Amino acid sequence: MKSAGLYKIASLALICSSALASAARPQSYKLNPDPEGQYPRLGACPDEHSCIFPPDLSQFLPGSFFDLRVELHAYDVSNVTATPEPYENFKTTVRKDNGKWVDIDKFFDYEETPALENWDFEWVNSIEAAVSKEVDPVNVAVTSRIWRKLKFDKPGTYDVSVQYGPKEGYTVRYTVIEKPKKKAKNAILFIADGCNVGMITAARALARKHTSGKYHNLLSFENFDNLGHVVTNSVDGMVTDSANSASSYATGHKGSVSALGVYADSSADPFDDPKVELITELIRRRQPGKSIGIVTTAAGEDATPSAFYSHTRERGESAQIVDQIVHGLPDWVDAVAPDVWLAGGAEYFKGEEALNGTDYYSLLEKEHGYQVVLNKKDLNKYRDDDKLLGVFRTGNLDVWMERNVFINNTVGNAAAPDLSGNDALGSDQPGLEDMTIKALEVLKKRGGKDGFFLMSEAASVDKQLHPLDFNRAWADLIEMDVTIEKTVEWLKKNGEYEDTLILFTADHSHAFDVFGSVDQKYMAQHSSNKDMRDSIGLYAASGWPGYFDNDNDGFPDNWNPDVTLAAGTNNFPDHYEAFQLSGTGSRTPAVKGPDGTYIANKDDPAGKYGKGLHYNGNLPVTYNQGVHSMADVFIYSNGPGSDKFKKTIENWDVFYGLTEAMDLQRPTKHEKKK
Ligand SMILES: *[C@@H]1O[C@H](CO)[C@@H](O)[C@H](O)[C@H]1NC(C)=O
Ligand SMILES: *[C@@H]1O[C@H](CO)[C@@H](O)[C@H](O)[C@H]1NC(C)=O
Ligand SMILES: *[C@@H]1O[C@H](CO)[C@@H](O)[C@H](O)[C@H]1NC(C)=O
Repeated sequence: MKSAGLYKIASLALICSSALASAARPQSYKLNPDPEGQYPRLGACPDEHSCIFPPDLSQFLPGSFFDLRVELHAYDVSNVTATPEPYENFKTTVRKDNGKWVDIDKFFDYEETPALENWDFEWVNSIEAAVSKEVDPVNVAVTSRIWRKLKFDKPGTYDVSVQYGPKEGYTVRYTVIEKPKKKAKNAILFIADGCNVGMITAARALARKHTSGKYHNLLSFENFDNLGHVVTNSVDGMVTDSANSASSYATGHKGSVSALGVYADSSADPFDDPKVELITELIRRRQPGKSIGIVTTAAGEDATPSAFYSHTRERGESAQIVDQIVHGLPDWVDAVAPDVWLAGGAEYFKGEEALNGTDYYSLLEKEHGYQVVLNKKDLNKYRDDDKLLGVFRTGNLDVWMERNVFINNTVGNAAAPDLSGNDALGSDQPGLEDMTIKALEVLKKRGGKDGFFLMSEAASVDKQLHPLDFNRAWADLIEMDVTIEKTVEWLKKNGEYEDTLILFTADHSHAFDVFGSVDQKYMAQHSSNKDMRDSIGLYAASGWPGYFDNDNDGFPDNWNPDVTLAAGTNNFPDHYEAFQLSGTGSRTPAVKGPDGTYIANKDDPAGKYGKGLHYNGNLPVTYNQGVHSMADVFIYSNGPGSDKFKKTIENWDVFYGLTEAMDLQRPTKHEKKK
């Protein structure tokens, strides 16, 4: 990796493929590639001893806010328990367009040099240190300064450099982009969490009629103007989680695993990390008339929705995240306070898990102008133009299957959003379509001529792919398809279609695909693994499965046909696979065995015929579920500005395409300064 020839190829490829190709780098400027290894010292720190956040190759809008943190890391890998001498003296400078280097305080008119901060962290730098109590992690002594709420007012190239020894230094390069023109009044970002192209193809086979192998029509979003690919990896790894991928869409910056609206630094405090401005915060400052909606079938403090209104290094800080809906963070821009917020996650709005026991229902109603609804009936009845908060259960909303087919599985869930301990029946919870169309009605009333921005997420595509419950994942994806179809109808009926950019994407893949079909009767008649495998039809024998939508509601009428799909992902724990729908609730593929590691669950509720094939897992035995995968995801786009999305783009480019279409990239006359 370190040979000069290889290095050149790597950096050339990076420059050519990135939006920063135009910003030529001086000869002296070193573009450090990420080093090989499973345990980076800290994401986005290719230099041996220093880190600058935002990291190298970051891009900004003129006037958008960000924090800048410099960390110096002292450590001794030859003696991990050593207490190394921290770097106390370092100098940070900035220059514009290859001009003169200027001290950072002066460059940004920063009144006082930020105080020097010190802490230690333990760098787990090997598998041995991660799994064995006998091997110690490396002790890293950190010195750091953070400059809060900076901005670049003018387009151009900016270099930030830290010098920490006579020869030791590190420089990162940023680009601040030019202003484009206005195109779209409204934008809707649909996200099917964890969905890959294999899932789209499977959903089509379930939900669309075909004759002689030709589909009568495709899924709703497959009629969109453009289609592209999104590169999903994070700064710290090839495979992303939902926090940092959604955060890339919301901020225009690559993220770290578990981080929302911040670059993950090495300090312990999950709220002091350097922040970057969210698209929703920019909307509040630059187009205060525009309305903002957040809709999800997950808990509303889950990673994807939270990325659009909160900042923290730790996505699990749910109580604080709820508080940020209306309080934001001190010394930052105003809270997003979405006009519409519809989701699950009630346990952080009231009672002992809520921040300081605050009753956020009452707080939002009394002090922040919201009306609160807690079930589907009240949501559908809502006709006012006040801000709307809808919270429909504790935890994630039940999936389409439990809201529509197996409602009895929700009896006894004690998940009522008022925390009374009563049930939140599947039939009392709205679906993605109910929530999205209601959000559009309210957003149109509140945004008026200034338009709206809506993020609407089908969260359980991912949440059901993790336990390998493919049927439940398909159903929630088909619910997204129907929701998009109804959204297009609503936009046309309400005269907003021509002015609305619609995106439909995922945030990361699961490695899902279909490889044939399964004859369930044959499988049920046999019990050995070897014989059961004959039930799988390949190529010409794959034929077609027995899913038909004769009532034209967009969903198959029978989820338990005699011929099902032979499908799976490329990673899993030990489990049984019967290729059937579980009628008693989501699958539990693996359970803890006698030694505490996960083994196949003999009682996996795999359906009506039996337990199925036994698979040997390929994940570490501490995992009881499948995990995300690396493949690029699709992005379907329609309407003004959609031509930005018809090629391979980086996940952080989604932000730039959205802000360009919505004309959020240039400061406006009445821009709010804070
Ligand atoms: C490693 O560092 C510790 C703590 O500074 C010190 O006590 C120990 O002697 C060192 N070990 C070696 C082998 O240098
Ligand atoms: C919650 O309580 C803590 C400790 O009592 C206090 O420091 C903090 O300000 C409170 N936060 C809110 C939002 O009330
Ligand atoms: C749900 O349970 C009730 C009461 O046991 C029963 O009457 C009803 O038929 C069940 N519904 C379904 C769809 O299974």
